[in-house]
Amino acid sequence: MRQISKRLLIFLSISIGFVSAIEPISTTFVVGVGAFLGKRVYNYFHETCDDSWIVYNSTSLEIDLKRKLFGQHVASRVIMKAVTGFINNKNPKKPLVLSLHGWTGTGKNFVSQLIVENIYNKGMTSNYVHQFVATKHFPHLSHIDTYKAELQQWIKGNVTICPRSMFIFDEMDKMHAGLIDSIKPYLDYYDNLEGVSYRQAIFIFLSNAGGEKITRIVLDFWRAGRAREEVQLKDLESALSLDVFNNKQSGFWHTSLIDKNLVDFFVPFLPLEYSHVRMCALAEMEARELTPNVEIAEQVATEMTYFPKEEKVFSVKGCKTIGSKLDYYI
Ligand SMILES: *[C@@H]1O[C@H](CO)[C@@H](O)[C@H](O)[C@H]1NC(C)=O
Repeated sequence: MRQISKRLLIFLSISIGFVSAIEPISTTFVVGVGAFLGKRVYNYFHETCDDSWIVYNSTSLEIDLKRKLFGQHVASRVIMKAVTGFINNKNPKKPLVLSLHGWTGTGKNFVSQLIVENIYNKGMTSNYVHQFVATKHFPHLSHIDTYKAELQQWIKGNVTICPRSMFIFDEMDKMHAGLIDSIKPYLDYYDNLEGVSYRQAIFIFLSNAGGEKITRIVLDFWRAGRAREEVQLKDLESALSLDVFNNKQSGFWHTSLIDKNLVDFFVPFLPLEYSHVRMCALAEMEARELTPNVEIAEQVATEMTYFPKEEKVFSVKGCKTIGSKLDYYI
Protein backbone atom coordinates (compact mmCIF):
# COMPACT_ATOMS: atom_id res chain seq x y z
CA MET A 1 0.00 0.00 0.00
CA ARG A 2 2.63 2.48 1.05
CA GLN A 3 4.68 1.68 -2.01
CA ILE A 4 1.74 2.48 -4.27
CA SER A 5 1.02 5.79 -2.61
CA LYS A 6 4.66 6.84 -2.81
CA ARG A 7 4.69 6.08 -6.49
CA LEU A 8 1.53 8.06 -7.01
CA LEU A 9 3.05 11.00 -5.22
CA ILE A 10 6.11 10.88 -7.45
CA PHE A 11 3.88 10.64 -10.50
CA LEU A 12 1.86 13.62 -9.32
CA SER A 13 4.92 15.77 -8.70
CA ILE A 14 6.29 14.93 -12.14
CA SER A 15 3.00 15.90 -13.76
CA ILE A 16 2.93 19.11 -11.78
CA GLY A 17 6.46 19.88 -12.95
CA PHE A 18 5.44 19.21 -16.54
CA VAL A 19 2.36 21.39 -16.35
CA SER A 20 4.22 24.25 -14.72
CA ALA A 21 6.87 24.20 -17.46
CA ILE A 22 4.20 24.83 -20.08
CA GLU A 23 2.27 27.43 -18.18
CA PRO A 24 4.48 29.30 -15.72
CA ILE A 25 1.83 31.82 -14.67
CA SER A 26 -0.42 29.34 -12.96
CA THR A 27 2.39 27.40 -11.30
CA THR A 28 1.34 28.34 -7.78
CA PHE A 29 -2.19 27.32 -8.50
CA VAL A 30 -1.20 24.01 -10.06
CA VAL A 31 1.22 23.22 -7.28
CA GLY A 32 -1.52 24.01 -4.78
CA VAL A 33 -4.03 21.76 -6.47
CA GLY A 34 -1.37 19.11 -6.98
CA ALA A 35 -0.41 19.14 -3.32
CA PHE A 36 -4.04 18.95 -2.34
CA LEU A 37 -4.73 16.03 -4.68
CA GLY A 38 -1.49 14.38 -3.67
CA LYS A 39 -2.48 14.47 -0.04
CA ARG A 40 -5.91 13.09 -0.89
CA VAL A 41 -4.41 10.26 -2.91
CA TYR A 42 -1.87 9.56 -0.18
CA ASN A 43 -4.59 9.50 2.48
CA TYR A 44 -6.64 7.25 0.29
CA PHE A 45 -4.02 4.54 0.49
CA HIS A 46 -2.37 5.28 3.78
CA GLU A 47 -4.44 4.60 6.90
CA THR A 48 -4.67 7.59 9.17
CA CYS A 49 -6.12 7.96 12.64
CA ASP A 50 -9.00 10.22 11.68
CA ASP A 51 -12.51 10.08 10.28
CA SER A 52 -11.34 9.30 6.77
CA TRP A 53 -10.42 5.81 8.08
CA ILE A 54 -12.21 5.50 11.39
CA VAL A 55 -15.95 5.98 11.04
CA TYR A 56 -18.50 4.22 13.18
CA ASN A 57 -21.58 3.07 11.29
CA SER A 58 -24.21 2.04 13.80
CA THR A 59 -26.81 1.12 11.18
CA SER A 60 -24.43 -1.21 9.45
CA LEU A 61 -23.36 -2.80 12.76
CA GLU A 62 -27.00 -3.40 13.60
CA ILE A 63 -27.61 -5.01 10.21
CA ASP A 64 -24.49 -7.16 10.55
CA LEU A 65 -25.55 -8.35 14.00
CA LYS A 66 -29.00 -9.18 12.71
CA ARG A 67 -27.89 -10.97 9.55
CA LYS A 68 -24.63 -12.63 10.50
CA LEU A 69 -24.85 -13.45 14.19
CA PHE A 70 -27.28 -16.19 15.15
CA GLY A 71 -29.05 -16.86 18.42
CA GLN A 72 -27.53 -13.97 20.37
CA HIS A 73 -30.35 -11.52 20.92
CA VAL A 74 -29.06 -10.48 24.36
CA ALA A 75 -25.47 -9.93 23.24
CA SER A 76 -26.58 -8.02 20.11
CA ARG A 77 -28.64 -5.62 22.16
CA VAL A 78 -25.93 -4.97 24.75
CA ILE A 79 -23.24 -4.49 22.10
CA MET A 80 -25.32 -2.00 20.11
CA LYS A 81 -26.07 0.03 23.17
CA ALA A 82 -22.51 -0.08 24.50
CA VAL A 83 -20.66 0.78 21.29
CA THR A 84 -23.11 3.40 20.03
CA GLY A 85 -23.34 5.07 23.43
CA PHE A 86 -19.58 5.19 23.80
CA ILE A 87 -18.74 6.49 20.35
CA ASN A 88 -21.49 9.11 20.41
CA ASN A 89 -20.24 10.37 23.76
CA LYS A 90 -17.92 13.26 22.95
CA ASN A 91 -16.44 13.24 26.41
CA PRO A 92 -16.16 9.72 27.83
CA LYS A 93 -14.74 9.46 31.34
CA LYS A 94 -12.93 6.19 30.66
CA PRO A 95 -12.23 3.87 27.75
CA LEU A 96 -14.93 1.41 26.74
CA VAL A 97 -14.35 -2.00 28.32
CA LEU A 98 -16.48 -4.92 27.17
CA SER A 99 -16.23 -8.40 28.58
CA LEU A 100 -17.68 -11.10 26.34
CA HIS A 101 -18.59 -14.38 28.03
CA GLY A 102 -19.90 -17.66 26.80
CA TRP A 103 -19.49 -21.20 25.62
CA THR A 104 -17.00 -21.94 22.87
CA GLY A 105 -18.09 -21.23 19.29
CA THR A 106 -20.96 -18.93 20.25
CA GLY A 107 -19.62 -15.91 18.35
CA LYS A 108 -17.48 -13.88 20.73
CA ASN A 109 -14.59 -13.55 18.30
CA PHE A 110 -16.96 -13.03 15.43
CA VAL A 111 -18.77 -10.18 17.18
CA SER A 112 -15.46 -8.48 17.97
CA GLN A 113 -14.71 -8.63 14.28
CA LEU A 114 -18.08 -7.11 13.38
CA ILE A 115 -17.46 -4.26 15.82
CA VAL A 116 -14.01 -3.68 14.32
CA GLU A 117 -15.31 -3.75 10.75
CA ASN A 118 -17.94 -1.15 11.53
CA ILE A 119 -15.48 1.27 13.10
CA TYR A 120 -12.24 0.82 11.15
CA ASN A 121 -12.38 0.94 7.36
CA LYS A 122 -9.52 -1.54 7.20
CA GLY A 123 -11.22 -3.91 9.60
CA MET A 124 -9.01 -6.42 11.34
CA THR A 125 -6.02 -5.36 9.23
CA SER A 126 -6.16 -1.83 10.65
CA ASN A 127 -2.98 -0.61 12.31
CA TYR A 128 -5.14 0.59 15.18
CA VAL A 129 -6.62 -2.78 16.07
CA HIS A 130 -4.55 -5.09 18.25
CA GLN A 131 -5.43 -8.63 19.14
CA PHE A 132 -3.75 -10.69 21.82
CA VAL A 133 -4.34 -14.36 22.52
CA ALA A 134 -3.18 -15.36 25.99
CA THR A 135 -1.71 -18.76 25.10
CA LYS A 136 -0.08 -17.43 21.94
CA HIS A 137 1.30 -14.05 22.98
CA PHE A 138 1.90 -14.66 26.68
CA PRO A 139 2.52 -18.39 27.01
CA HIS A 140 5.34 -18.61 29.56
CA LEU A 141 4.78 -17.82 33.18
CA SER A 142 8.49 -17.23 33.66
CA HIS A 143 8.42 -14.32 31.21
CA ILE A 144 5.61 -12.54 32.96
CA ASP A 145 7.65 -9.45 33.82
CA THR A 146 8.75 -9.02 30.22
CA TYR A 147 5.18 -9.48 29.01
CA LYS A 148 3.94 -6.87 31.46
CA ALA A 149 6.48 -4.27 30.39
CA GLU A 150 5.89 -5.00 26.69
CA LEU A 151 2.14 -4.90 26.92
CA GLN A 152 2.14 -1.63 28.83
CA GLN A 153 4.52 -0.15 26.29
CA TRP A 154 2.36 -1.35 23.38
CA ILE A 155 -0.82 0.05 24.82
CA LYS A 156 0.82 3.36 25.62
CA GLY A 157 2.66 3.57 22.29
CA ASN A 158 -0.34 2.72 20.20
CA VAL A 159 -2.79 4.98 22.02
CA THR A 160 -0.26 7.79 21.67
CA ILE A 161 -0.28 7.22 17.91
CA CYS A 162 -4.06 6.80 17.76
CA PRO A 163 -6.40 7.54 20.67
CA ARG A 164 -9.14 5.50 19.02
CA SER A 165 -7.20 2.25 19.26
CA MET A 166 -8.83 -1.08 19.96
CA PHE A 167 -7.33 -3.91 22.00
CA ILE A 168 -8.86 -7.36 21.95
CA PHE A 169 -7.74 -9.89 24.55
CA ASP A 170 -8.74 -13.43 23.73
CA GLU A 171 -8.64 -16.28 26.29
CA MET A 172 -8.84 -13.80 29.12
CA ASP A 173 -9.42 -16.70 31.51
CA LYS A 174 -5.99 -18.07 30.64
CA MET A 175 -4.24 -14.79 31.14
CA HIS A 176 -2.00 -14.40 34.17
CA ALA A 177 -3.46 -12.25 36.94
CA GLY A 178 -0.36 -10.07 37.07
CA LEU A 179 -0.67 -9.31 33.39
CA ILE A 180 -4.29 -8.28 33.76
CA ASP A 181 -3.30 -6.14 36.71
CA SER A 182 -0.69 -4.40 34.59
CA ILE A 183 -3.28 -3.13 32.12
CA LYS A 184 -5.74 -1.99 34.78
CA PRO A 185 -4.56 1.64 34.93
CA TYR A 186 -5.42 2.07 31.24
CA LEU A 187 -9.02 0.99 31.82
CA ASP A 188 -9.64 3.38 34.67
CA TYR A 189 -11.14 6.85 35.07
CA TYR A 190 -7.95 8.84 34.61
CA ASP A 191 -7.87 12.09 32.71
CA ASN A 192 -4.45 11.05 31.48
CA LEU A 193 -1.45 8.94 32.44
CA GLU A 194 1.92 10.54 31.76
CA GLY A 195 0.25 12.84 29.29
CA VAL A 196 -1.62 10.14 27.38
CA SER A 197 -5.40 9.88 27.55
CA TYR A 198 -6.92 6.43 27.10
CA ARG A 199 -10.52 7.63 27.12
CA GLN A 200 -11.12 7.05 23.41
CA ALA A 201 -9.72 3.53 23.40
CA ILE A 202 -11.77 0.35 23.30
CA PHE A 203 -10.87 -2.85 25.15
CA ILE A 204 -12.63 -6.13 24.49
CA PHE A 205 -12.06 -9.18 26.70
CA LEU A 206 -13.14 -12.63 25.57
CA SER A 207 -13.50 -15.62 27.85
CA ASN A 208 -15.39 -18.83 28.40
CA ALA A 209 -15.89 -17.87 32.03
CA GLY A 210 -19.51 -17.96 33.07
CA GLY A 211 -20.33 -20.07 29.99
CA GLU A 212 -21.51 -23.08 31.99
CA LYS A 213 -23.75 -21.03 34.20
CA ILE A 214 -25.23 -19.23 31.17
CA THR A 215 -25.88 -22.61 29.58
CA ARG A 216 -27.65 -23.89 32.70
CA ILE A 217 -29.93 -20.86 32.73
CA VAL A 218 -30.82 -21.18 29.05
CA LEU A 219 -31.38 -24.91 29.52
CA ASP A 220 -33.81 -24.16 32.37
CA PHE A 221 -35.77 -21.91 30.03
CA TRP A 222 -35.79 -24.63 27.40
CA ARG A 223 -36.95 -27.28 29.86
CA ALA A 224 -39.71 -24.98 31.07
CA GLY A 225 -40.90 -24.74 27.48
CA ARG A 226 -40.11 -21.04 27.30
CA ALA A 227 -38.84 -19.35 24.16
CA ARG A 228 -35.14 -18.64 24.01
CA GLU A 229 -35.93 -15.06 23.04
CA GLU A 230 -37.56 -14.61 26.43
CA VAL A 231 -34.15 -14.84 28.09
CA GLN A 232 -33.21 -11.36 29.24
CA LEU A 233 -29.96 -9.85 30.39
CA LYS A 234 -31.27 -9.72 33.95
CA ASP A 235 -31.83 -13.50 33.90
CA LEU A 236 -28.15 -13.97 33.10
CA GLU A 237 -26.72 -11.43 35.46
CA SER A 238 -26.21 -14.04 38.17
CA ALA A 239 -24.11 -16.01 35.68
CA LEU A 240 -21.82 -13.03 35.28
CA SER A 241 -21.70 -12.05 38.92
CA LEU A 242 -18.74 -11.91 41.22
CA ASP A 243 -19.25 -15.30 42.83
CA VAL A 244 -18.99 -17.05 39.49
CA PHE A 245 -15.72 -15.27 38.86
CA ASN A 246 -14.50 -15.94 42.34
CA ASN A 247 -12.80 -19.09 41.34
CA LYS A 248 -9.10 -19.31 41.72
CA GLN A 249 -8.41 -21.00 38.43
CA SER A 250 -8.21 -18.03 36.22
CA GLY A 251 -6.52 -14.71 36.28
CA PHE A 252 -9.54 -12.53 36.03
CA TRP A 253 -10.67 -13.19 39.56
CA HIS A 254 -7.56 -12.22 41.42
CA THR A 255 -7.85 -8.80 40.04
CA SER A 256 -10.10 -5.94 40.88
CA LEU A 257 -11.30 -5.45 37.31
CA ILE A 258 -14.75 -6.35 38.44
CA ASP A 259 -15.02 -4.86 41.88
CA LYS A 260 -13.48 -1.64 40.67
CA ASN A 261 -16.14 -1.51 37.97
CA LEU A 262 -13.59 -1.17 35.21
CA VAL A 263 -15.67 -3.40 32.96
CA ASP A 264 -18.53 -1.34 31.53
CA PHE A 265 -20.56 -4.17 30.03
CA PHE A 266 -20.64 -7.91 30.56
CA VAL A 267 -21.97 -9.48 27.41
CA PRO A 268 -23.42 -13.00 27.69
CA PHE A 269 -23.37 -15.38 24.73
CA LEU A 270 -25.97 -18.15 24.76
CA PRO A 271 -25.22 -21.75 23.77
CA LEU A 272 -26.26 -22.48 20.19
CA GLU A 273 -28.96 -24.90 19.07
CA TYR A 274 -29.35 -26.97 15.91
CA SER A 275 -31.23 -24.20 14.09
CA HIS A 276 -28.39 -21.75 14.69
CA VAL A 277 -25.73 -24.18 13.54
CA ARG A 278 -27.74 -24.73 10.38
CA MET A 279 -27.85 -20.96 9.80
CA CYS A 280 -24.11 -20.72 10.42
CA ALA A 281 -23.54 -23.35 7.71
CA LEU A 282 -25.73 -21.45 5.25
CA ALA A 283 -23.97 -18.17 6.08
CA GLU A 284 -20.61 -19.84 5.59
CA MET A 285 -21.62 -21.02 2.12
CA GLU A 286 -22.77 -17.51 1.28
CA ALA A 287 -19.49 -16.08 2.56
CA ARG A 288 -17.67 -18.49 0.24
CA GLU A 289 -19.88 -17.29 -2.61
CA LEU A 290 -21.51 -20.68 -2.99
CA THR A 291 -25.21 -21.10 -3.53
CA PRO A 292 -26.59 -21.83 -0.06
CA ASN A 293 -27.66 -25.46 0.04
CA VAL A 294 -30.17 -26.26 2.77
CA GLU A 295 -29.63 -30.00 2.51
CA ILE A 296 -25.90 -29.72 3.10
CA ALA A 297 -26.45 -27.19 5.88
CA GLU A 298 -28.75 -29.63 7.65
CA GLN A 299 -26.32 -32.46 7.15
CA VAL A 300 -23.51 -30.41 8.65
CA ALA A 301 -25.70 -29.32 11.57
CA THR A 302 -26.79 -32.91 12.22
CA GLU A 303 -23.20 -34.08 12.39
CA MET A 304 -22.36 -31.78 15.26
CA THR A 305 -22.47 -33.11 18.81
CA TYR A 306 -25.18 -31.82 21.10
CA PHE A 307 -25.63 -31.79 24.88
CA PRO A 308 -26.94 -32.57 27.48
CA LYS A 309 -26.90 -36.29 26.73
CA GLU A 310 -30.64 -36.86 27.04
CA GLU A 311 -32.07 -33.83 25.31
CA LYS A 312 -29.26 -32.88 22.93
CA VAL A 313 -30.19 -29.21 22.76
CA PHE A 314 -26.94 -27.30 22.47
CA SER A 315 -24.02 -27.71 20.11
CA VAL A 316 -20.87 -28.65 22.04
CA LYS A 317 -18.68 -26.60 19.71
CA GLY A 318 -21.25 -24.00 18.79
CA CYS A 319 -20.58 -22.97 15.20
CA LYS A 320 -16.86 -23.44 15.57
CA THR A 321 -15.90 -26.27 13.22
CA ILE A 322 -18.53 -25.49 10.59
CA GLY A 323 -15.92 -24.35 8.07
CA SER A 324 -13.94 -27.57 8.05
CA LYS A 325 -17.11 -29.70 8.12
CA LEU A 326 -18.28 -27.89 5.00
CA ASP A 327 -15.03 -28.65 3.20
CA TYR A 328 -16.10 -32.26 3.35
CA TYR A 329 -19.17 -31.73 1.24
CA ILE A 330 -17.99 -29.11 -1.21
C1 LIG B 1 1.54 -1.41 18.90
O1 LIG B 1 1.13 -2.73 19.20
C2 LIG B 1 1.85 -3.73 18.51
C3 LIG B 1 1.24 -5.04 18.89
O2 LIG B 1 -0.06 -5.15 18.39
C4 LIG B 1 3.30 -3.67 18.83
O3 LIG B 1 4.01 -4.64 18.10
C5 LIG B 1 3.83 -2.29 18.51
O4 LIG B 1 5.17 -2.19 18.90
C6 LIG B 1 3.01 -1.23 19.22
N1 LIG B 1 3.45 0.09 18.81
C7 LIG B 1 3.97 0.95 19.67
C8 LIG B 1 4.36 2.28 19.08
O5 LIG B 1 4.16 0.70 20.83
